[in-house]
Formats: sequence, structure tokens, C-alpha cells
Amino acid sequence: MTDPLSKSGLSRRSLLTTAVAGSAALTVPARANDPAITELQPWMQSLGDGVDARPYGTPSPYEADAVRRDVPWLTADPISSVNFTPLHKLEGIITPNGLCFERHHGGVAEVDPAKHRLMINGLVDKPLVFTMEDLKRFPRENHVYFLECAANSGMEWRGAQLNGCQFTHGMVHCVVYTGVKLKHILEEAGVKTNAKWIMPEGADASAMTRSIPIEKALDDCMVAFAMNGEALRPEQGYPLRIVVPGWEGNMWVKWLRRIEVGDEPWHHREETSKYTDLLASGKARRFTWEMDVKSVITSPSPQAPITHGKGRTVLSGLAWSGRGTIDRVDVSLDGGSNWTTARVDGPSHTKALHRFYHEFDWDGEPLLLQSRAIDSEGWVQPTKNALRDVRGTESIYHNNSIQTWYVQKDGEVENVEVG
Ligand code: MTE
Ligand code: CO
Repeated sequence: MTDPLSKSGLSRRSLLTTAVAGSAALTVPARANDPAITELQPWMQSLGDGVDARPYGTPSPYEADAVRRDVPWLTADPISSVNFTPLHKLEGIITPNGLCFERHHGGVAEVDPAKHRLMINGLVDKPLVFTMEDLKRFPRENHVYFLECAANSGMEWRGAQLNGCQFTHGMVHCVVYTGVKLKHILEEAGVKTNAKWIMPEGADASAMTRSIPIEKALDDCMVAFAMNGEALRPEQGYPLRIVVPGWEGNMWVKWLRRIEVGDEPWHHREETSKYTDLLASGKARRFTWEMDVKSVITSPSPQAPITHGKGRTVLSGLAWSGRGTIDRVDVSLDGGSNWTTARVDGPSHTKALHRFYHEFDWDGEPLLLQSRAIDSEGWVQPTKNALRDVRGTESIYHNNSIQTWYVQKDGEVENVEVG
């Protein structure tokens, strides 16, 4: 993509704007003669549907734009592919089940829960096979966690490419999981003292497998059967998936059918050929599990332009870290020259999305919007160039760098980079 900044000849200095926080008052016209308030609308003139019309509710037809989308050229076919969460359409920190991005390596397995089993084998005293009913008799827990694919923002490593936070950052979702601690299940089978690793395996056509250190497995990993209060969706691994809080999405094996316990990692495809980070030296980083501190402004953004003209504008975004909670989010309206602390609002759960806002008065001049998150361990989200300085440009995975949105005078927004 060409850089619209050089096209329009804008200089960074001309973009200085003042961030106005404080009063919540707006300047809105009185609209006394607006027919939308003075006239009877069609929906006021007849009775609506009764309670039986929607046994399972769906959003208003006016929200038909809030859907998952894919980028057709990205993958060879839609079976081993990915679609993206419409982050620009969402509020708060919870992703609705029908909008959680999907990443499948062998399509969606349609599993019959009555015939689904979870086997524990390998370095255990007593290999076991659990039914779904067995699993639901362990103590249940509820936790809010984000899941981010390691490849999220991967297409942006070498330059600004995709025009919308749905595509640049939409391989993330955040739901409340209900399930049982993996620790209880492993204890039931009795983990041998030389056990160092586990390997979850999926029941889908790709039979996804990854190696996970036993410390993580016994710490906060869960085996989840519900999300946002209802059974997992088929796309998210119904009836069972492993939850690996804060770690890359690839490890969160869906349609979980087996966990092997071993004394060394398995070095399978997804931790050798894939999900490793190629550096400029030709060497690759391996076992980079934790998702680094990251944030993105979801509005204004290319799919959510400013349509109200000058004046009070609400900037909104998401921040998260695989290492804990979010301590602070800074926002810049001028491409990183000046920073203001944004308002983080709503629940702050560890390894979950956080929502931030910044209200400002837009003077109608171009803006370069950026957000920079800092997590509870003190990690600071880097600029794109700072990340490239240490990781080069060959990587796909673990791009947590600062995103820039260029707001034009007409309120339209584009994906750009600042030097
Ligand atoms: N588990 C199985 N069995 N098969 C898969 O293809 N994809 C992985 C992981 N678990 C996958 C899987 C990848 S790469 C990611 S990013 C997450 O699932 C995506 O989870 P989601 O589809 O719920 O968003
Ligand atoms: Co993934």
C-alpha cells in the first residue's frame, strides 16, 4: 500500500491536536422538527412478533454488518483457513460466540458429545478415558480469557497492508470459559514424577497436537466445555477444548480427545515448521508461547470512520497481555509525538481483553491515531520499527507492535505506518 502521508505531503508537525478530556457535555442540535421523532414509525403502528418467533435469538437485521470475515487470498482454501472477529463492531471485553474468529486446519469437526471421549495416557499411573459426563463431575470454574492466534497481525510485519482492525487484529476473541482445571484430571490419572510435558490432541481431521510444559498444565490450564454461558460452538471445539491462558492460540487444541504425558516435547509440525519465529540471522525462535502486551484502536478505524464531523469524538480500543492485566494504555493523536493516558473501563481480568476509551474534540484536521499498552509486569508495547530491530522482517508470528490509523479530513481512516 502507498503511504497516503507522503501523497498528501503532510508533515508530522502539522498534525498537532489538543486532546480535551474532562466534561462529558456534547454540542448537539435541538432537532425539534426531526421526523424521526415527530412522526409515527412503522414499528409503532402494528404488533410485533410474539415470544415464539425466535427460540434462539439473533441480532437485529440492522446489525447484519457485524459478522466474521475472511481474506480470500490469504489461504489456498476455506477449510484450512481463518476468519476474523469484527472488533470494530464490538463493545466491552466479551466476544459474542457467533463472532469469535475461527482458525481451522482441517475444517470444523461436528462431534457427537455422547461419543466423545478424553483419553489421558503416557507417563501416568493409570491411563484413563473420560466421557463428557465424567468431566462435568470435577469442580467447575469460570474464567475470562483472550485467545489470540500467534499469526494475528502477521500480515503487517513488513508494512501496512490490510484496511481494518478486523483484519489486522481480529484473530483474537475473549469469552468466559466454564470447565475444570486440567490439574484435577491429570491428578486422577496420577502424573509420574519424570513427567515434564503434555501433548493435547484434537479429534478433527488435522489431529492438531502441541507440546505444553507440565508446569503450565498444572497451573491455569483448563478443559472447557462452555463459553459465555452455553456449550462451546462447533467452530470453537465443541464439546471440549483445552484453555491455555495467555499463550498462543494454536496450543488451545479444539475437539480435545487425548492428552499424552511425556518427559520431552514432541517437536511436531506446529512447533517446528510453523509457530516458530524466523529471525534475520536465519535462526528461529522456538517455543514462544506467551502473547506479548498489545492494543489496537477499534474506533475510529478504517471500518469505523468518523461520520459525525468535527467535535466530541469517542476513541475506543482493546488491550491485552498474555502475562497478566493491563496497567495503562496511552493514546496518541499525532503519530506518537504526544501521548495521553486513556481510560480503561470495565472488568480487568488477567489474560483477558481490556477496554479503553479516550474522548477528545476533533478539529477536523488529519490525525495519526496510535495506542500503546503497558501490562502488569511492566512490558511496554513496542513501535513497529523497534520490533523489527530485534526480530527482523521474516517473522509472521507475535507481532504486538503499535498500530497507526490515519484519519483524513473527511473522517475516512486508513492503515498506515509512521517512520
Ligand atoms: N485445534 C484443532 N483441533 N484444530 C485446529 O485447526 N487451530 C488452532 C487452535 N486449536 C486448531 C486447534 C489455532 S492455530 C488457533 S489460533 C485456535 O485454535 C483458534 O481457535 P478458535 O477457532 O476458537 O478461534
Ligand atoms: Co492460530
